[in-house]
Amino acid sequence: MAKLVGILTAGGDSPGLNAAIRAIGKAALLRHNMQVVGFRDGFRGLMENRLFRLDSDQLSGILTQGGTILGTSRDKPHRMPVGARVQDMTDVMVENYYRHHLEALVCIGGGGTQKNAYRLARAGINVITLPKTIDNDVAMTDVTFGFDTALTIATDAVDRLHSTAHSHHRIIVVEIMGHNTGWLGLGAGIAGGADVILLPEIPYDIEQVAEAIRRRRRAGKNFSIVAVSEGALSREDAKIHQKLRAQKAKAKAEKKNKKLARTLKALTRFKARQVNAAVRLSSDLESLTGLESRLTILGHLQRGGTPSAADRLLATRLGTACADAIQAGIFNRMVAVDGESTQLVPLADVVGKRKTVPLDHPWIAAAQATGTCLGNVF
Ligand code: F6P
Repeated sequence: MAKLVGILTAGGDSPGLNAAIRAIGKAALLRHNMQVVGFRDGFRGLMENRLFRLDSDQLSGILTQGGTILGTSRDKPHRMPVGARVQDMTDVMVENYYRHHLEALVCIGGGGTQKNAYRLARAGINVITLPKTIDNDVAMTDVTFGFDTALTIATDAVDRLHSTAHSHHRIIVVEIMGHNTGWLGLGAGIAGGADVILLPEIPYDIEQVAEAIRRRRRAGKNFSIVAVSEGALSREDAKIHQKLRAQKAKAKAEKKNKKLARTLKALTRFKARQVNAAVRLSSDLESLTGLESRLTILGHLQRGGTPSAADRLLATRLGTACADAIQAGIFNRMVAVDGESTQLVPLADVVGKRKTVPLDHPWIAAAQATGTCLGNVF
């Protein structure tokens, strides 16, 4: 009997997902004589038994399409809203996996998906994952697909903002996605020639940012582009955040439930306030420099549309390697990029880690060497 492979896409969508589904599916069908099904809307589809056959018709014509033909969700197996309750549905998923006699489940996603897939692997199913996210922050892989497309979109936006900032002698703050890591903000900031780049990895000093803009004005450049990652924090906010996280870890370790609940609430309030961080940054810079400032939030534009050639290539390369791994009976691994080659990294080595921008990364050095203000001298 032909082996049956299930595929799901989970977490935020990203360009290249369909290219990956197509590659896994075509290689499984054509090279290995397997059959393939797709689960709808991430782990929820596996839990609710919502699946459909992926044959050559379904896999045709999707290489260049953005989004995911399977749909996606941020639902987690162990904390799934079902009716009015949040429940651990891991066992139901394992049961469904065996009911359909699957040989393997392919989970395509970012850091959260790697964790959730690992949970299912430990619960007894054959799992294999692919790393995708525009944030490029999955550990143990050089790069994730989706990143290159988002980088191109964000760079194009920074390019376009230059002319209007220049004409109006304004500051333009452009918010770029990346809650926890600044790969996209840094990459697009450098490629687009932003004057200031602010990242989650480098808490910024607002006075240093304002001074960089004033210095430009003294040199006759009375406009500035500030590329800021969603998750960038001022030095003061970073201290508060660090304190809350330490409190949370302590309350958890000491099993102080009331203190833990209070800290979690404070963290939620902190995160809610952060949603408007770029609005505050823009208005603070206006007051501190005397220049008019405008804010552009790129948001989900960065995740939409046709994947770049590089992302299509990467997704195809990882997808076909994934089908080969299933054929070889290698499971509970992430198909990772290691230069020109592909590695099957144990999921245990991927989960619980995040690939942040190291302060000694060549992109940081290049930004500093070209006079870009990173919000903090270090
Ligand atoms: O993880 C990818 C990402 O686009 C992040 O950059 C961003 O912070 C987040 O997803 C937004 O998530 P959602 O689409 O659920 O609002």
